[in-house]
Amino acid sequence: MDRADLSAAAKRLCRPGYGLLASDESSSTMGRRLEKAGLDGSSLETRRAYRELFYCADLGSCISGAIMFKEMLVENDSDSRPFTACLTSQGVLPGVKVDEGLEVISTGASREETHTKGLDRLEQACTEYRKQGVKFAKWRAALKVGHDLPSQTAIAVNAAELAKYACICQESGLVPIVEPEILIDGDHDIEASAAAAELVLTACFEALHKEGAYLQGLLLKPQMIIPGSDCTGPKPNGWAIAEYTLRVMRKCVPVEVPGIMFLSGGQTEVEATANLDAINRLAREQGGAPWALSFSYGRALQASVLEIWSKDQSRVAQCKQMAAALAAANGSASQGEWNG
Ligand code: 13P
Repeated sequence: MDRADLSAAAKRLCRPGYGLLASDESSSTMGRRLEKAGLDGSSLETRRAYRELFYCADLGSCISGAIMFKEMLVENDSDSRPFTACLTSQGVLPGVKVDEGLEVISTGASREETHTKGLDRLEQACTEYRKQGVKFAKWRAALKVGHDLPSQTAIAVNAAELAKYACICQESGLVPIVEPEILIDGDHDIEASAAAAELVLTACFEALHKEGAYLQGLLLKPQMIIPGSDCTGPKPNGWAIAEYTLRVMRKCVPVEVPGIMFLSGGQTEVEATANLDAINRLAREQGGAPWALSFSYGRALQASVLEIWSKDQSRVAQCKQMAAALAAANGSASQGEWNG
């Protein structure tokens, strides 16, 4: 694919008022989440029926793309319509998670760190996904924060893999979503989170530059700058989170990148929406930002839907309404226009 097409697709994914539905939890992760809600997560049919609540909901006015797990690319809705067709008929581009999960590496740090598997077969996989109508891809690296974390080794290894992945995707005509997630687990404060994010994002963009990635044709998916989930200090409000997040993004993310699509990463639905709204309001007060500031949420677009469905699987219409309402709230927040 040429660069103009990649850039057009990336811009379309982050156009004003739109964000991404991250629905690419692997079969085992999704299975566990469904089991926890009292459902039979080991059944493909349960996983398919759950995804239908989203892919056949009315999402086209605020969701530009849906990141899918590969097993769902070949599944249909209850009327035998392919999920990919349900999405594209609403103008929602299908995307796919192309990494193959995390693997522990030895870095000498106090806690286990990981890299992401999947580079070996990536080129071949991207070619196949393109033929299936997929337009963009996601690769997630996960970095822990702690007194000696993330280690230099983990930062360098994950940055190099993200850059290689991005270039392979672009050569295959897929827009890469580059996701270096700073994990929420731990008792670190917001300063430590900001410091870790700066190191990680700087290394990622250095590696992307070195590999020759085309920045206009990719999207960044970072964590917001928030304290660890076990942090005992005072909880920062949305404005503080917005200030830290914008400061780090302005320092580390080149202006050529069209969009920053935050993950929700352990925040509640309301927190994720309120914080995205605050980020966009503050960016506006500061005279604007060079990139779109939007969402690529998983749990923050799904939790309430799963809660309804787990109580009564016949409440399909109510679940779809909830999916659309969560998406719409975040569409508003991505413009700093959420009314709580
Ligand atoms: P959360 O928004 O639930 O963190 O999921 C986003 C995602 O895709 C993580 O890889």
